[in-house]
Amino acid sequence: MIYKTKSWSKIKVLGKEIDDFNLAKMFKKNPNRGKDLSLSVADLTFDFSKSRITVKVLKEFHKLAIEIGLQNKVNSMFGGENINSSQNRQVGHIWLRSKNLRPKTINGIEENQDQFLSFADNVRSGTVKGTTGKEITDVVNIGIGGSDLGPAMVYKALQNNHDNKINCYFLSNIDEFENINTFRGLNPETTLIVVTSKSFTTAETMKNALFAKNWLKKSSSPLSVRDHFVAVSTNLQACEEFGISKDRVFLFWDWVGGRYSLFSSVGISIALGYGSKVFLELQNGASKIDQSLKDIDFFNFAPFIHAVINIWNLNILKMNSLAVIPYSSSLQIFPAFLQQLWMESNGKSVDLKGKEISLNTCPVIFGEPGTNSQHSFFQFFHQSPEIVPVDFILIKSQKIEDAEFQNTLFANGLAQAAVLAFGKSKSDLKKEGASKDLISHKFMPGNRPSNILILPRLNADSLGQLIAFYETSVILQGFLMNINSFDQWGVELGKSTAESFLNSIQGEVKLDFDSSTNNLISEFKKN
Ligand code: F6P
Repeated sequence: MIYKTKSWSKIKVLGKEIDDFNLAKMFKKNPNRGKDLSLSVADLTFDFSKSRITVKVLKEFHKLAIEIGLQNKVNSMFGGENINSSQNRQVGHIWLRSKNLRPKTINGIEENQDQFLSFADNVRSGTVKGTTGKEITDVVNIGIGGSDLGPAMVYKALQNNHDNKINCYFLSNIDEFENINTFRGLNPETTLIVVTSKSFTTAETMKNALFAKNWLKKSSSPLSVRDHFVAVSTNLQACEEFGISKDRVFLFWDWVGGRYSLFSSVGISIALGYGSKVFLELQNGASKIDQSLKDIDFFNFAPFIHAVINIWNLNILKMNSLAVIPYSSSLQIFPAFLQQLWMESNGKSVDLKGKEISLNTCPVIFGEPGTNSQHSFFQFFHQSPEIVPVDFILIKSQKIEDAEFQNTLFANGLAQAAVLAFGKSKSDLKKEGASKDLISHKFMPGNRPSNILILPRLNADSLGQLIAFYETSVILQGFLMNINSFDQWGVELGKSTAESFLNSIQGEVKLDFDSSTNNLISEFKKN
């Protein structure tokens, strides 16, 4: 229990001492703060010098890691213990990409991977065709949550790899317009539908998969589900019942959680879109971060520092949100991916034993690419009384023709971090001749924390590293707080309640809910 440890008590004391912490003063006091509070892991650079943190605090967190046996917790994940205790499951997504971190009892990963990757390459080469003998040109991935966000995020992020062989589309919401719009313009004869669902029971995915099946049936030439559907799931029986033939079902394991699943067969759409080589490069990138977890030098391990800064921001500085701002349109879906990864993992109120914990476990994550977001919600970041810590994700170089684009993105990211940290004082405004009545409007308080994560370039390898960086931070936070980062019981009640409301909307069932719901359902039914 973190809050019962000696180190946590000390961290809380340090939290009080740090009340007058000021980033501008800290940078003045230590002209090397930028370098000193910066680490690299694999090819990523993590600059945390603009966080409201001191080396003393980090040292105490290091002691905390030792006190609670953090390395043992990591090792028990690698060793295959059922650390997802509320579901009695192992946690093995890292085994998919790091062979040397798997227990000997885990077999069949390479065979499984070969199966879906060679299928993807065969579709891309035209060896696997549709019923009428035409090559597949379009892929629609139907899935939601972890069965959508990971592959959709990676597909968008790596759009520079597009070779015009196959376009991928991602259909997730149970929304007729989204269905119609996705399939509009697609030719069923050249379309492959990938139904991705770990459980193969998720209502949204099943409804959308049925829509796709009907769309296929309406084609002028008779097309078979066998040739135009594949499934990715842990539930073979349900896939077969849906009509997808066994050899077109790419299985994975219950020890791969949905939000951690993109490196399993759930990532088949990435391989269909860009080929197995790119998929393997992505895995290789993630594996570079995993390797550092074998024997962590916590104090020098960037994902650990990231993890503890977030616990510190939440619980000591009482800053409840985190904005993640990638300076790349290709990373547009990254904040949404991170929302599920982080908030579904760590949005918990009880510890592993089910006891309530007196900690704030997870920030509210949101984000949009920069510079767009600068022209939207950054005003709030700079001047609102509520402080929002920011993770800036910057890219050093891109495959580009006009360097000014990339230079501008980089400069803007750095500029925002600097303005948040150092603000603009009233005296400086006066010196610059700002009119008296505008000084308080233009005043920027500064001392607002942010981190900067830099990728050397955006490719499959570095994207794999970025994903694993955040996965590792989220998992380490969970271990430190003694919560289960791998279950998601909170989602279940919402699902079953929606089902009973739907029954009342669609049938003649008596309305027996709260008066607001009863009233609104009655109004809805009048249509
Ligand atoms: O939203 C809850 C959830 O279970 C997620 O954890 C998961 O990623 C998503 O639903 C989809 O589940 P499935 O892959 O089983 O369709």
